Amino acid sequence: YFPVPPATKEDFLGCLVKEIPPRLLYAKSSPAFPAVLGQTIRNSRWSSADSVKPLYIITPTNASHIQSAVLCGRRNGVRIRVRSGGHDYEGLSYRSLQPENFAVVDLNLMRSVWVDGKARTAWVNSGAQLGELYYAISKASSTLAFPAGVCPTIGVGGNLAGGGFGMLLRKFGIAAENVVDVKVVDANGKLLDKSSMSADHFWAVRGGGGESFGIVVSWQVKLQPVPPTVTIFKIAKAVSEGVVDIVNKWQSVAPQLPADLMIRVIAMGSKATFEAMYLGTCKTLTPLMQSKFPELGMNASHCNEMSWIESIPFIHLGKKDSVEDDLLNRNNNFKPFAEYKSDYVYQPFPKTVWEQIFNTWLVKPGAGIMIFDPYGAAISATPEAATPFPHRKGVLFNIQYVNYWFAPEAGAAPLSWSKDMYNYMEPYVSKNPRQAYANYRDIDLGRNEVVDDVSTYSSGKVWGQKYFKDNYERLALTKGKIDPTDYFRNEQSIPPLIQKY
Ligand code: FDA
Repeated sequence: YFPVPPATKEDFLGCLVKEIPPRLLYAKSSPAFPAVLGQTIRNSRWSSADSVKPLYIITPTNASHIQSAVLCGRRNGVRIRVRSGGHDYEGLSYRSLQPENFAVVDLNLMRSVWVDGKARTAWVNSGAQLGELYYAISKASSTLAFPAGVCPTIGVGGNLAGGGFGMLLRKFGIAAENVVDVKVVDANGKLLDKSSMSADHFWAVRGGGGESFGIVVSWQVKLQPVPPTVTIFKIAKAVSEGVVDIVNKWQSVAPQLPADLMIRVIAMGSKATFEAMYLGTCKTLTPLMQSKFPELGMNASHCNEMSWIESIPFIHLGKKDSVEDDLLNRNNNFKPFAEYKSDYVYQPFPKTVWEQIFNTWLVKPGAGIMIFDPYGAAISATPEAATPFPHRKGVLFNIQYVNYWFAPEAGAAPLSWSKDMYNYMEPYVSKNPRQAYANYRDIDLGRNEVVDDVSTYSSGKVWGQKYFKDNYERLALTKGKIDPTDYFRNEQSIPPLIQKY
């Protein structure tokens, strides 16, 4: 391993230009730098002038550029953060929370997808957005799909590294468990795949969170069968229409439904929308709903039948005829100021909690949105240690608290709502640890302390057990083997553990 000497940025650049075409490098002083940096910043809170920005942005077009960036960084004391889609809630793929010399490897130009419909697999570069992956799959077959995130602009790199789930989670689990091979540049600049990396390393990159285990260049994923027609419904219910009773029933029913049916709830103000995807037609969905969940009042008039690929923009934007515009659009300008938190629930809430949520919390000034994703079926059937993602058996649902505002000075009420809401929920959600989803990164859960230039295991444990439960230790031991000097790091990367405690 190379020791990391003090930073000398001229040497870093001198090293880079020998290996990487200068048109792929942006120094902070370059006129194009702000636009390149800003291109995939999704949370406008981290665009501000006081964010600690990289010295350089490198936009590789092949794996050897990434290897060179790592080797030049190691020789010249410049750390590297990697960005795929830039959706990190805390912006850790492109900003540092403390003064630091670092460069960003931005994979925006590496976004090819190769689908092998016969083998039911695809190779996808990390810089593709999920929509590009979904679109390429649909061009090869109308009955194959991939179970990753809902929003098409999310980067493949970060989503798969931290788990990745969407409307297919009950049928096929998380994206990371559907990864069959990877190409990764490690902290020594070596390009590894499944056959040349350790079993622990392969385990860790599939859900152990981005940044910690090297730069994933590309992923080979297993495609999953879906019927030619799926059915979507979105049914909104207000407090005046009995939403409290309906959601109270939903929390016990939704995790028990057949794997082909996912009904999530999006609650905002005094209203909730029950949004469902069913892997089948209206004809079989309607009697199923009438027998299992009659309280929702679903009938055939609510059905929207379409192909799986049409369901992506339909769920995201409410229209199914905009597949190409939505899935391939890399210029989405929805870039609010945002705050997010998450929880896991194992016991149904008392009805009084739902009453409080709808009658008090969601109608307060600064109130955000709550998204409830039911678990059960495939996502809960996988053992906790099979992948780093540990939120499995017994989980009824995941909660995401989302809050947006649109001017920098408008954040006080939303931020205090998020904090107060999260505190209010504590008695009703998972405990010891209070679990959270790694892809819904939340720096309030804790951040690493660096001692002797290495992130400490004990500081990482505070947030790490919330994201990974007992898998945290295996992740840290793996990091200790493959990157013991902690070259790839951010404020919530897995610290290296050299010896088992
Ligand atoms: P970004 O590029 O910011 O990277 C995120 C983290 O991964 C960073 O630490 C980064 O360094 C690291 N990383 C990125 N590329 C890497 C690579 N190639 N190799 C190694 N490390 C890498 N999640 C979900 O599961 N389901 C959902 O439906 C949604 N929906 C959603 C909507 C919106 C609007 C947002 C903003 C986010 C979500 N998410 C989500 C959360 C999302 O999955 C999470 O933020 C991902 O980490 C984003 O991946 P990106 O590549 O876009 O982010």
